[in-house]
Order: sequence, then structure tokens, then C-alpha cells
Amino acid sequence: MNIKRLEKIRREKAVDALLITDEYNMRYVAGYRGEGMLVYTSDSRYVLTDSRYTEQAGRECADYQCIDIGKDGYGKSLSKLLKDYAKTVGFENKSISYQFYQVFKKNLPDIILVELDDVIDELRVIKTAEEIALLRKAESIGDAAFSHILEYIKTGMSEREISLELEYFMKKSGAEDLSFDTIAASGENSSMPHAIPTDRLIREGDFLTLDFGCKYNGYCSDMTRTIGVGSVSKKQEAIYNIVLEAQKEAMKAIRPGVCCNEIDRIARAVIDDAGYGDCFRHGLGHSVGLFIHENPRFSPKCDTILEPGMVITVEPGIYIPGAFGVRIEDLIAVTETGYTNLTGSEKKLLIV
Ligand code: GLY
Ligand code: MN
Ligand code: MN
Repeated sequence: MNIKRLEKIRREKAVDALLITDEYNMRYVAGYRGEGMLVYTSDSRYVLTDSRYTEQAGRECADYQCIDIGKDGYGKSLSKLLKDYAKTVGFENKSISYQFYQVFKKNLPDIILVELDDVIDELRVIKTAEEIALLRKAESIGDAAFSHILEYIKTGMSEREISLELEYFMKKSGAEDLSFDTIAASGENSSMPHAIPTDRLIREGDFLTLDFGCKYNGYCSDMTRTIGVGSVSKKQEAIYNIVLEAQKEAMKAIRPGVCCNEIDRIARAVIDDAGYGDCFRHGLGHSVGLFIHENPRFSPKCDTILEPGMVITVEPGIYIPGAFGVRIEDLIAVTETGYTNLTGSEKKLLIV
């Protein structure tokens, strides 16, 4: 990341130093993947950490001076570092604990603390071409995992077995981690949008919702497909097609200049008109980057205007409690003229 962007924030916030503590912001700003915090001033940059991470910090962020907090801990180390030249410090009030805030207040009693809110996160909203290439690669690992799992699934397997196979496949294919806990929800469990995989065995007539993602070089993938097992009823098929229609209609409207809440509204209207408005109670989508759930969102409350470089999921669903649910999720990148779909997996109703 171009360091001038941090300097701009420092000036706008009128502070002498910026303290960056959010793990995704540390990675974005400095490439640092360990624990600790970054301190930025107009003429110096530090990583404060403990001895477990000092060598890593040296390797990952050559432009930063590493300070081992040792026995001083973070409070005293910050006090020694800042007391001579910082009167005001911007800090990430949304990422530090109350306990750390107390340590900070106690050790730096004369420093004015300025809340940064989301300003560092906002640096990450528009993805560069390099970031989009990494997101595309992560999503392609998800696509390959989905193709693999279609061949692997048999009736009598448990949700846990299926989720484990997806995870194993993604890691074997080069993923460094999962981007969130895998969801494999079958039958009546599929009506819970964020179901946790169980020992339930999948059987003929089930819907099986698979929502999974991995990280490639830090960047997350996220996709959902709902498939039928053996055969499905006319009602299941009809609901699947409403969800698919909602997704397609919303995607048609994605382009720079359109408000995020308008994309949500379009999908919600399709589901409302079909009589299932009460069964779609989450937002339509969220941005994805180094973290799985970023802003802006396709949600009724989000008034952000779409810009090229935003990468956002489109994931409508209908969930009928105690019966079944359907969700279909793709990851799109907004372009100059519309969008490109980073997800390549089939969306017509597949029966395994
Ligand atoms: N299960 C994470 C998501 O799709 O948002
Ligand atoms: Mn998902
Ligand atoms: Mn998602």
C-alpha cells in the first residue's frame, strides 16, 4: 500500500501518530501477519510486538522498525516511544479491547486519544487489480472444491464429512486458510442461514446448502450453492428458482453509480413478490477482501454508491423454518461498466 495514504489520514485527523491494531489493517498497510501493533508518524514506522514475532516482523515489513515490547509490555513501550514527540494519537477504537484502552490511558496520561473509527478500513474498500486477481484465484479454488464435492457426495454421508472434504480440498489446492467456518446444512438444517455442520446424514429429498471459502495470499473467497440430493419436490424447485431469479435481477443492476441499497431492494422485491419476504431476513451481500465481511454491504441501510474495484457478494436466500432453505451466493467485482463475476460455478439446480 502506498504510504502516502496513511500520511493523508494522519493530517486529516490532525494527529502526531497513528496506532494500527486491527489484524487485517496491519496486513494491508504493512504486510504484517503477526500479533502486535503498527505505529506510524510522519517520519517513522514501527511494529511493536513480542519475541514470538520479532523475526517474522523483520521478514514481513522491512520498512518498519521492530520493537520488542519485552517486560515493558505494550503500555510502557508505547509511552517510551511516543512521549517525546506525540501529543495526539489516532487509535482504532473499533479494534482494541477496553482492557487495552485502560492500559493505554494509564501509561500515556498526557496524550490526547483521537478515535479513527473506520478510516483505516476504508482504505481497503476499493480493490486494486492485484487484489482482485488474488480474490479471483481464491474464488477459483472454491469453484474447484465445489466441482470436486459434487462427485464426492453420496447419501449417508454426514454434513461434517462433507464440510471436512471441502476444507481439505481447498487447503490442498493452495489455500492458506479458510475464510470462515464452512457451512454444510442439509434437510431441515438448511433453513438456518449460518448452520453449523452436524452428524446428520444426508438423504434423498434433501436440499444441501454449502457455503464455504478460503484465503489465498490473505484474500478471501465466499460462495454458496444449494443442491438437491436424489430428487427434490416441486416446491423446493420453485423456491430455488425464486432465489436464483432474485440474484439474477439484482446482478443486472450492478454498475458504478448505483446505490448499494438499490441492489438489495431489487433482490428483496423478487422474493417479496413471490410471497416469501419474511423468509429472507439477512442483507443481500457484503464486501470481501482480507476479511470476509467488509463494507460496503448490499443491505437496506447501506447508502454507499458503487464504484469500480468494489468486491461484494450477492447472496439472496429463502429459509423456511423446520423445512429447508436455499441460498445462492456469487462474488462480483464492480468494473467501469458493470461487474465481473468472480464465481464460475453452475447455478441451475443440480441434483447429486
Ligand atoms: N457465511 C458467510 C457468508 O456468506 O457471509
Ligand atoms: Mn458465504
Ligand atoms: Mn457471504
